[in-house]
Amino acid sequence: VTEGAGEARTETPFSIRTAREGEADVVLAFWSAAGAVPTVSDDRDAVERLLRHDPEALLLAEADGDVVGTVVAAWDGWRGSVYRLAVAPRFRCRGLGTALVRAAEQRLTEAGARRSQAVVVETDERAMSFWSAAGWHHQRERARFTR
Ligand SMILES: CC(C)(COP(=O)(O)OP(=O)(O)OC[C@H]1O[C@@H](n2cnc3c(N)ncnc32)[C@H](O)[C@@H]1OP(=O)(O)O)[C@@H](O)C(=O)NCCC(=O)NCCS
Repeated sequence: VTEGAGEARTETPFSIRTAREGEADVVLAFWSAAGAVPTVSDDRDAVERLLRHDPEALLLAEADGDVVGTVVAAWDGWRGSVYRLAVAPRFRCRGLGTALVRAAEQRLTEAGARRSQAVVVETDERAMSFWSAAGWHHQRERARFTR
């Protein structure tokens, strides 16, 4: 999706592309190493199902052949949803998180989304500052119900 993005901010260039079939294990290992908050759907079946359901949804950032960032940009036909934004610790604060969000936004806009949402842990100050800095609006007037 994005080639060479971020070269101005890090000596190791990264690129962003869609994940391919067969990469579920690499992605799961990256999430675990990057300290992404684990969820009940963090297993190979779930990632493979996502890739089958929407092959464009999972975006990976790569540097020197390693996965150094991820984001899921999911389109359900009604709204875009952004999940699993994670950046390898050594690549943080270099613009990669922003580049991943921009790639997710581009993918969702091209798919037809006019509205998108991201679920963010409200007590995580870093994540909250990041999403505000990325230009996303913190909606306080809606509650989230889950099941
Ligand atoms: C949150 C996360 C994705 C940010 O990625 P990143 O590549 O470091 O982000 P960027 O370099 O693009 O930062 C963009 C802006 O976000 C804000 N930001 C980023 N990290 C921050 C921090 N630790 N504290 C406060 N603000 C921060 C800053 O405003 C920054 O702009 P600046 O560099 O001009 O100051 C990364 O820290 C991460 O993977 N954390 C663990 C997983 C996680 O929390 N994911 C979010 C789930 S919703």
